[in-house]
Amino acid sequence: MSSIVPVDLLAAATNPLYFSNLVTTNASDPSTIALLSYNDTFRNDVLGENATARRLYNLDHEAFHEMGTYNRKTNSIYVTSNYQSLDNPINVTIIDLGNNYSISSTRYADLNEANGGTNWYPPNSTQGNGTTPPFLLFCDEGDFEHYSGLVSVDPSTNNSQVILNSFLGRNFSSVNDVRQHPETGDIWFTDAPYGFWQEFRPNTSIPSQVYRFVPSTGDISVVADGFIASNGLEFSPDLKTLYVTDTGAQQSINGLNGTRPATIYAFDVVDQRRLDNRRTFAWVENGFPDGIHTDMQGNVWAGCGDGLHVWSPDGVLLGKVWNGVESNNFAFIPGGVLVFSNAQLWIVEGINAVGREICRDFGVCGSS
Ligand SMILES: *[C@@H]1O[C@H](CO)[C@@H](O)[C@H](O)[C@H]1NC(C)=O
Ligand SMILES: *[C@@H]1O[C@H](CO)[C@@H](O)[C@H](O)[C@H]1NC(C)=O
Ligand SMILES: *[C@@H]1O[C@H](CO)[C@@H](O)[C@H](O)[C@H]1NC(C)=O
Ligand SMILES: *[C@@H]1O[C@H](CO)[C@@H](O)[C@H](O)[C@H]1NC(C)=O
Ligand SMILES: *[C@@H]1O[C@H](CO)[C@@H](O)[C@H](O)[C@H]1NC(C)=O
Ligand SMILES: *[C@@H]1O[C@H](CO)[C@@H](O)[C@H](O)[C@H]1NC(C)=O
Ligand SMILES: *[C@@H]1O[C@H](CO)[C@@H](O)[C@H](O)[C@H]1NC(C)=O
Ligand SMILES: *[C@@H]1O[C@H](CO)[C@@H](O)[C@H](O)[C@H]1NC(C)=O
Ligand SMILES: *[C@@H]1O[C@H](CO)[C@@H](O)[C@H](O)[C@H]1NC(C)=O
Ligand SMILES: *[C@@H]1O[C@H](CO)[C@@H](O)[C@H](O)[C@H]1NC(C)=O
Repeated sequence: MSSIVPVDLLAAATNPLYFSNLVTTNASDPSTIALLSYNDTFRNDVLGENATARRLYNLDHEAFHEMGTYNRKTNSIYVTSNYQSLDNPINVTIIDLGNNYSISSTRYADLNEANGGTNWYPPNSTQGNGTTPPFLLFCDEGDFEHYSGLVSVDPSTNNSQVILNSFLGRNFSSVNDVRQHPETGDIWFTDAPYGFWQEFRPNTSIPSQVYRFVPSTGDISVVADGFIASNGLEFSPDLKTLYVTDTGAQQSINGLNGTRPATIYAFDVVDQRRLDNRRTFAWVENGFPDGIHTDMQGNVWAGCGDGLHVWSPDGVLLGKVWNGVESNNFAFIPGGVLVFSNAQLWIVEGINAVGREICRDFGVCGSS
């Protein structure tokens, strides 16, 4: 069980060892989780004074890595595992919210090496608050034989369908993460060299970019480039800003290069179709920012090298959900957050923050 730990930024300003003495864990057997408040807004508003955190699982394999998408029909959250080998490919881990977070593993036809994902409404289905998104949309990183692209799955029937596997005939590297614009239905996604870095894809032959795909017509465009590894992406709750993480500091699977990006960029979303005004939103001092989500106050949360980091909409670091280990992604649930740290799954409960998609996905639409 955790408590909220205040961070004294003035003490840290002149003591480079401040953080190494603040809270520690055994990274080969992590069991500590702490809520570090860098700014009173974190304790008072984002979390609330009674928030708590604990570990749910510590497995012998890395079942909790990316995605974290809720489906209301199955009352479950879908998470993708970390890559192990072509002989032990990426699983989908199903967390049953109706049964004490019990977990099971599965794989779907047509989905080879899954990574990020989201809920999605196919063309002509009704979008809206409280309208259950029927399908899961997975990024498939592909392998030496299979294309990388986007695969739709109906978790009620387990039927799957490839909806995209090239840019007008050019192969993607490893499609990484995806969101559906809640008003236009367009699918925005990133592509990065991970399959090559992890040695299950050929060398990249296309830049790391951000794309917008119109699933009803097949129209596809590049909306941003200039990344080493475009990774997580997320809209602000007013849909005026898109955040994109660059995990280029993870130069290969074998190591970090601290001089390359571990950075979140922000863009203006223009006419719901293009991006403009690229700017640096935040850089992280521990690991790299991977999966990213916003809450209804516009705060930006990202999975980083030591847990989750949370910034205000103007880029001030407000606090961390600290567990001392790489936490690639997370999922908001009503009143809480599930944190994916590969072999571990953690939960933060009793928080004020409400994830951007909570109202739509869970039908829980409170006053805040
Ligand atoms: C850290 O955890 C590992 C694995 O359980 C254990 O072997 C090691 O002794 C622990 N280290 C410390 C300092 O407790
Ligand atoms: C806390 O964050 C808010 C919001 O960004 C900022 O206005 C304020 O100055 C910060 N407080 C301190 C003590 O740094
Ligand atoms: C936190 O818990 C304490 C003790 O149960 C209670 O008195 C207080 O009202 C709670 N605070 C909030 C904001 O709910
Ligand atoms: C719920 O699951 C946890 C492990 O995540 C276990 O320790 C606990 O006993 C379970 N509780 C019930 C009521 O099954
Ligand atoms: C997939 O799940 C099975 C069963 O839980 C497990 O043995 C295997 O190691 C998992 N593979 C990966 C890549 O996590
Ligand atoms: C969506 O509806 C329009 C108008 O009814 C129709 O022309 C179009 O074929 C439909 N698209 C799909 C993908 O079903
Ligand atoms: C959905 O709810 C949000 C607030 O939770 C509101 O801003 C938005 O207008 C609603 N959208 C629709 C289509 O009702
Ligand atoms: C594109 O990917 C497919 C499927 O893996 C492969 O057969 C094809 O050779 C690739 N094309 C190029 C130009 O690399
Ligand atoms: C779909 O897959 C899940 C997980 O393996 C399984 O529990 C469920 O029974 C399957 N549903 C159908 C309709 O086959
Ligand atoms: C992979 O492609 C890049 C870009 O063309 C090139 O610089 C690099 O040398 C290639 N790496 C290998 C191992 O072929």
